[in-house]
Amino acid sequence: MFKRTLVTTALPYANGPVHIGHLAGVYVPADIYVRYLRLKGREVLFVGGSDEHGVPVTIRARKEGITTQQVVDRYHELIKSSFERFGISFDVYSRTTSAIHHKFASDFFRKLYEEGKFIEQTTEQFYDPETGHFLTDRNIRGECPHCHAAGAYGDQCEKCGSTLSPEELINPYNAETGNALVKRPTSHWYLPLDQYQEWLEKWILEGHKEWRPNVYGQCKSWLDGGLRPRAVTRDLEWGIPVPVEGAEGKVLYVWFDAPIGYISNTKELCDAQPERFGKWETWWKDETTRLIHFIGKDNIVFHCIVFPTMLKAEGSYILPDNVPSNEFLNLEGDKISTSRNWAVWLNEYLDDFPGKQDVLRYVLTANAPETKDNDFTWADFQARNNNELVAIYGNFVNRALVLTNKYFEGKVPNSSDFTEYDRQTIDEFKNVKAQLESLLEDFRFRDALKEAMNLARIGNKYLADTEPWKLAKTDMARTATILNLALQIAANLSIAFEPFLPFSSAKLRTMLGLKDVEWDALGSLDLLSAGAPLGEVSLLFEKIEDGPIQNQLDRLARIKQENDEVAKQAELANWKPQEIKSPASIDDFDKLDIRVATVLDCQPVKKSERLLQFKLSDGNGERTILSGIAQSYPDPSVLIGKQVLFIANFPPRKMMGIESQGMILSAVDADGKLVVTTTSRVVKDGVSVG
Ligand code: MF3
Ligand code: ZN
Repeated sequence: MFKRTLVTTALPYANGPVHIGHLAGVYVPADIYVRYLRLKGREVLFVGGSDEHGVPVTIRARKEGITTQQVVDRYHELIKSSFERFGISFDVYSRTTSAIHHKFASDFFRKLYEEGKFIEQTTEQFYDPETGHFLTDRNIRGECPHCHAAGAYGDQCEKCGSTLSPEELINPYNAETGNALVKRPTSHWYLPLDQYQEWLEKWILEGHKEWRPNVYGQCKSWLDGGLRPRAVTRDLEWGIPVPVEGAEGKVLYVWFDAPIGYISNTKELCDAQPERFGKWETWWKDETTRLIHFIGKDNIVFHCIVFPTMLKAEGSYILPDNVPSNEFLNLEGDKISTSRNWAVWLNEYLDDFPGKQDVLRYVLTANAPETKDNDFTWADFQARNNNELVAIYGNFVNRALVLTNKYFEGKVPNSSDFTEYDRQTIDEFKNVKAQLESLLEDFRFRDALKEAMNLARIGNKYLADTEPWKLAKTDMARTATILNLALQIAANLSIAFEPFLPFSSAKLRTMLGLKDVEWDALGSLDLLSAGAPLGEVSLLFEKIEDGPIQNQLDRLARIKQENDEVAKQAELANWKPQEIKSPASIDDFDKLDIRVATVLDCQPVKKSERLLQFKLSDGNGERTILSGIAQSYPDPSVLIGKQVLFIANFPPRKMMGIESQGMILSAVDADGKLVVTTTSRVVKDGVSVG
């Protein structure tokens, strides 16, 4: 039987601020779970921190022109405070550049090394002779072997989407310096996952069938594919030096040291406050501790296969009991992306919607990507706030409080006999506790939140049906009973919502004059005693108008425009001429009669999006030609007076009821726009080109 629960959340890279995708995927669900356990009086520890090694932070540093240390210092602080402001209730939030972590991860590696748990292998890797560096896949670019696009990455071609390895690139070069690369031998330490395959299959495929289908499925497909040794060291400068003689210039792979951060952060906390948190070993080595990793789906293999293998190889640690992993949250239909600035940043949200942490927590949970990718839209955000938080939960609480103020001088009224309808209402809401619990224990936060909201719905309906504001004129005793019950339900709501919306629950308790509560009081009808005074009443939630929502949409539209512009520039930069067609003779060319003409008039063809109608002076008189270039010339009058090249001996052809007598020659720009060809000096109309 478990005595305590250790909850970890993926350590975000300190290479940028955190956004709604982080919150929805990992931190809000973990926080809900932890708050629930605490409220239930269970022993729990909630561990987080920043992942400060790895290539992403060094890339950011070069982009911003500052040192890597400055990058991680800046973003660690920003991320930490964003989480704090959203009420993510970590017991510890530390960082992987801390001295404690460096020593801990280094010792962990050395122990495995000394016990012969790694294998050492020498391979040929790409090396930049000018900078003296080995390069990571992402930092190598070259021509794609499949579609021949320039600038494909060492791991992927963004043009045709194929997965690549750097070896396949044609003429690989250093992405940052442009230097040509050579192969050089380098040796690294590998964790022989293949040796643990059988053990992993038993432990996961047989022992953890209860894991979410997306998690179990990913593990199964990795295992079915057969595991291979994985390098746990890298040739880099930024990171934890490999603690082995002769390993100068090598550091621990970021995915080796980061999960150890869960342990070293626990140690940091426990060493600092042993009376309160006990020994770190109790959390990591005692079989009565249950370990839960909250992560996003791109982290599954590391938490279900690699890290457990590290722990198993070390030998003295417990293994994760569950790894609730979410799918991805998209933003307005597009993948969230830090580099494309396509995100709602938590720090910016708080500036734009001060005090509305719970609204975002609510929307992200109600729409959490638990089983499939989901989409965050500002319209949904507004609708859920206005139609659910304000119209149901807020409205109910406000009515109960305001009526109590009005008829009972702000004191909890006395309850007398219940009617049949009261009893029905009470029965309905008493079921909620058990349902909520089983959903929460099952990591089904989205459904759990729905249950909590149902409780508010029950309360709202109760007041709407009993209409105490009418009864108050005739039957004060009955009014008192109704409002007493409504207030008790409101008090229950402050418990049921506490894990999800902690700020609003605290506010509601102040309004109700309620002290701290515990989970097991949920369902009770005497949370408030008759005669107890209420606190000051204000709105629990406020309506969100269209203005601020439109501002967010405008911001995203601006970003989209910038991104399109950047993509276009990149496309132009990568453009390469088409291959030369198969050989042709002068006779082939002579068949075509290409001539020069002056544009007398040029108009869009009615009802056609593509066609422009040219009137040309061709030396013999006038000639009409239709050309499908309207999209490229929004104002066709700019062509009037220009000389153009056209083919004079194509048979006439009717389009949109107009006869076209030939074809005007155009070139295609790299972005798909057509450009009409002309001569470099004015010549006589009708002159042949050859
Ligand atoms: N920084 C990684 C990411 O953002 C997550 C690291 S989780 C840990 O994908 F296990 F390594 F801590
Ligand atoms: Zn390609």
